[in-house]
Formats: sequence, structure tokens, C-alpha cells
Amino acid sequence: MEVAAAAAPAVRCGLRRCRAGLRGRWASPAGGVPLRLCSTRVTLEGINKPVIDRIIRVDHAGEYGANRIYAGQMAVLGRSSVGPVIQQMWNQEKDHLKKFNELMVAYRVRPTVLLPFWNVAGFVLGAGSALLGKKGAMACTVAVEESISDHYNSQIRTLIEEDPEKYKELLQVIKQFRDDEREHHDIGLEYDAEAAPAYSILKTAIQLGCKAAIFLSERI
Ligand SMILES: [Fe+2]
Ligand SMILES: [Fe+2]
Repeated sequence: MEVAAAAAPAVRCGLRRCRAGLRGRWASPAGGVPLRLCSTRVTLEGINKPVIDRIIRVDHAGEYGANRIYAGQMAVLGRSSVGPVIQQMWNQEKDHLKKFNELMVAYRVRPTVLLPFWNVAGFVLGAGSALLGKKGAMACTVAVEESISDHYNSQIRTLIEEDPEKYKELLQVIKQFRDDEREHHDIGLEYDAEAAPAYSILKTAIQLGCKAAIFLSERI
């Protein structure tokens, strides 16, 4: 634990800043406009429902999968020096998932039918990468978080092309989560992901899996 305490101050500081941001964001967003996304007061009139359905369904699935990955990593490495760092990233994923659970209710979107599969696959990926060691777990984090943040970026472009004013609040959520995922990616690099055994192959394989998961979760 002492090693973790010595190695992680910068990361903890970053995460703390981020987590404080998360809490503050929903309580009092910039500009003083109250967010209503966690209530059922979202106006569904005039929105492009198929596009929003697809975005919220896949993002919910992604955050659900991320939670299961970190659960798997914690099952293996929870007591190791990287345990506290993984736990803090997992805590943020719990916030993300909670938000998308609320958005699903607000926008009346059903979850993907693949959730039971992502439940198992996420945990196996997390635990499996952690069995390769701390660097293996971090390589998995880098691969997954890069895929998720890239995907959030493409959704941001879609929503801006649709109507940035209409989807202002959803954009705010996705942009913030994109930044959080980017931070997780950087933490993975900081903790020597690139020194994992067969890093390039591992990263490519995991990202192919992420692409397939995104493709399927958007559609079914
Ligand atoms: Fe997330
Ligand atoms: Fe993340």
C-alpha cells in the first residue's frame, strides 16, 4: 500500500479534481442553467428519437461494460499497489452508469438485450487482463478508454450536426464523460500500460472487441 501511496499522488489529485467536478456539474452547471436530465422533464418533442435511442443505448452499455471490467480487475488486483487507482476509476464509472440509467428513463430508451452478455464478457476481460499483471490491466484500460472516448467524440459530432442547441444538455454530459475516459486512458499510460506483454496485439484485440460491442449495442 505504501508503494501505491507513493506512486499515485498525481493521479489521485487528478481524479479528485475530476470527481469534485462530477458532483458539482450536476448540482450547479456552468451558466447557472439547471440540468433536468435526471428528471422525466426532458422534452421528447422534436428530437431525433432513433439517433438519441442509439446514442443512449450504446453509452449505457459501454458504461455498464466498463463497470464490469473494473470489477474484474479489482477482483484480481484489488489488494495490490494499483488497487486504489483502479477503485477510483471504477467509482467514476459508477457515476457514469448512474447518469445513463437516469437518461434512459428520461428519454424512454430501452437497454440493449446484450447486457447479460456484457456483464460476463466485461468481468472476464477485466479479470483476464489483470491476470497478466498490473501492466496488463492498464493496457486493457488504455485500449478500452481510447475506444470509448473516440466513440464519445463521434457522438458529439453527430449531435452538433443534428442541433447543438436542442441537445445542449446531452452534449454537456457526453463531453464531460469523454474527458473522464480520456483521463482514465492517461492514467493507464502513466502506470506503464505500454510495457505490458504483447501490448500492441492486446490493445488491437481489445479495441476490435470494443468496436463489435459498440456496433451490436447500438442496434439490438
Ligand atoms: Fe465511463
Ligand atoms: Fe472510463
